[in-house]
Amino acid sequence: MNIGVLTGGGDCPGLNAVIRAIVYKGIKQYRYNIMGIYEGWKGLLEGGPIAPLTLEDVSGILAMGGTILKTSRTNPFKHKKGIELIKKTVKKYKLDVVIAIGGEDTLGVAARLHKEGLKVIGVPKTIDNDVAGTDQTFGFDTAVNVATEAIDRLRSTAEAHNRVFLVEVMGRHAGWIAVQSGIAGGAHLILVPEYPIDVDEVVSRIVKRHARGEQYSMIVVAEGAQLKKDSGEPGFILQEPEKDAFGHVRLGGIAYILAKIIESKTGYECRNAILGHIQRGGKPTAFDRVLSTRYGIHAIDLVHKKKFGQMVALRGTKIVGTPLVTAMKKTKTIDKEIYGIAEVFSG
Ligand code: F6P
Repeated sequence: MNIGVLTGGGDCPGLNAVIRAIVYKGIKQYRYNIMGIYEGWKGLLEGGPIAPLTLEDVSGILAMGGTILKTSRTNPFKHKKGIELIKKTVKKYKLDVVIAIGGEDTLGVAARLHKEGLKVIGVPKTIDNDVAGTDQTFGFDTAVNVATEAIDRLRSTAEAHNRVFLVEVMGRHAGWIAVQSGIAGGAHLILVPEYPIDVDEVVSRIVKRHARGEQYSMIVVAEGAQLKKDSGEPGFILQEPEKDAFGHVRLGGIAYILAKIIESKTGYECRNAILGHIQRGGKPTAFDRVLSTRYGIHAIDLVHKKKFGQMVALRGTKIVGTPLVTAMKKTKTIDKEIYGIAEVFSG
């Protein structure tokens, strides 16, 4: 059997660990041919490059960031003959199954292709942790650790200067990284896309805090957090208004805008740091290496059991298979319980 593997969308730590697990179990136990499809859906759309992956190819990649298969944000459904071209490539390389490792965009394409008759299996990744149907995506734990380390470091300089420091983390539609790194880093305020920012409320909490004698504040804000509609500011703060193939704009800068507003309303000196892609690069944590490995092993097991149209998922402590379409139903936003915990330490 020939199994194609691709990584699509934004990269994240752990992609190589998934590929390695698929190749190891696929070759050693099932005697499959594993084929690497390069640059995500682009590779299938453009007819390659596609090449065999050997045990040697994946040796030593467990702890490597990025993806040896490269990635792209290509959406085949944006092309008139997208499905036709993909089917042509699948036929040319005699691919029996495609394992797509990606976030909601990549997995959304996989679900649609499955409807079109292609045999696919999904593996959920994204540092944003916003894919429904799984308790956690790989890459998220690493991003939270990087952000927490940054908050710890920024805290000492904020404290030394008696400043209000705004740390901007990734998270387009969901504030998972903000809330988890904010709790882990002891932030005094956490702002997420799920709850529009009331600037007066933010200012009042900071002023109250400083009136109590505190001399500095740490605020963690997700890039996708928006100011309340009546604030006069635009919704999303953009770095780049142009949309990608999946309709996403490039976010960034809410921390800068908020720092300006808070400084002008309170007189406290403010600074901001946008962590950006630092959260996505580099080595996966031990947790992400293990989760990615378990996902890869389960994905190839699903192939063996012919459970096509499924995605691997973490449920509690177990890895299960779940229909790909469940991942597409909605964005997994933060739950009230975790935000409630953050609120206890707010202000
Ligand atoms: O993959 C998710 C994500 O990291 C988002 O948090 C972020 O908004 C986006 O990707 C950035 O994408 P790009 O790498 O294309 O700039």
